[in-house]
Amino acid sequence: MSDVTLQWLLPDGRGVGRAPDGATVRVDGGVPGDVVCTDQDPPRLVRPSPDRRTPPCPWSKRCGGCDLDVLTPGSRHRALAATVAHAFRHPHTPTVVPSPRAEGHRARIKLAIEGTAVGYRPRRSHALVAVQRCRIARPEVQDAHQRLIDWLQRVHPRGLGAVEIRSDGTRVAYAFTSSGSVPRATREALAQLEVVALDGRRIAGDPVLELRIEDQPLRVRPRSFYQVNLELNTLLVAHVRQALVDRGAEAVLDLYAGIGNLSVPLAAAGLPVVAVEAPGPGGEDLRDNAAAARARGLSIEAITQRVERLDPSRIPFDAVVLDPPRAGARGVLPRITRNRPRIVAYISCHAPSAARDLREIPDYELVSLTTFDLFVDTRHLEAVAILERRSRPRR
Ligand SMILES: C[S@@+](CC[C@H](N)C(=O)[O-])C[C@H]1O[C@@H](n2cnc3c(N)ncnc32)[C@H](O)[C@@H]1O
Repeated sequence: MSDVTLQWLLPDGRGVGRAPDGATVRVDGGVPGDVVCTDQDPPRLVRPSPDRRTPPCPWSKRCGGCDLDVLTPGSRHRALAATVAHAFRHPHTPTVVPSPRAEGHRARIKLAIEGTAVGYRPRRSHALVAVQRCRIARPEVQDAHQRLIDWLQRVHPRGLGAVEIRSDGTRVAYAFTSSGSVPRATREALAQLEVVALDGRRIAGDPVLELRIEDQPLRVRPRSFYQVNLELNTLLVAHVRQALVDRGAEAVLDLYAGIGNLSVPLAAAGLPVVAVEAPGPGGEDLRDNAAAARARGLSIEAITQRVERLDPSRIPFDAVVLDPPRAGARGVLPRITRNRPRIVAYISCHAPSAARDLREIPDYELVSLTTFDLFVDTRHLEAVAILERRSRPRR
């Protein structure tokens, strides 16, 4: 039994250190610099890290959202960048591009509803933490949250299970999900919130928002994914575009394209793009956004199909961009790179799955690794890995 200084963060947010006997010590809620005593399980905090600060939010300890707001921004960046370097077995800690907005950066927040209470559900829990104000939400989203709290108290609605408050930076929409049958009185009252969808269908106003990414308009339906941090997303898109342009890319295959967040700006930079997104609301948005972009003279084609079912053999591309969900894209890259594209740009919100997938294509070399702090005050980071095909294949 001895004191152990935690040194790293695991991708799941636990602090980790090594005991003198070589044993690994993992601590829930621990951060690098904490000294813990292993005389009991879980280990006891004996000296807090000098990088700790007083959390700026009274709810974050319970709501499960900003799990790393206990760290100063610089030390959180360093700790997370180290986890990304470790996942990619990269010798250098990657640069972290900070969020232009620290507080008030989230364009979407998803809240659970129980009767007249609204709030977050902590990880692995059904409890509801009734947060009155979420400081990481954009100001217009915070205002909409406030209006929702008042509306719930006034209306006592029934049959609503959750709501996502969504902003495009200008307009805000409420996207509700039902938890059972929604009585007529509740449906009618929902219109008081002005721009509303229920289970993906319009109730009031126009709940299809319009984002502008690098000056390109992108429509987004109430149930489609879009990046939560609008300003930093624009920097991320510019980074990917520049990486492809600098390497002389001529044609792009964009996998897991969503609404066209990367594909449309890449096409606007003069690169012909074939974009692939699964069938569903995101796929419908991609088709619409690609058609609108073609009408503006851009070269972009949308395929709504699951990536696993895509036959890339007839698609001309020398660069592949992929931005899969957290679980990654196991087995996809060996098939896609049979066409021997020169460049792979992998955008990932979970570095360990990206690193695992990239090990499936040893003929590609990691030439750049950058991280973007899209999810301020949390353990999540977005990593962008750029790979080039080796001139001599690895044996
Ligand atoms: C992390 S989002 C990225 C979206 C987009 N690239 C962006 O920058 O906003 C992942 C996207 O992959 C889509 N997706 C998930 N599984 C898929 C699959 N098997 N085939 C095609 N698309 C898929 C999701 O619908 C989602 O839009």
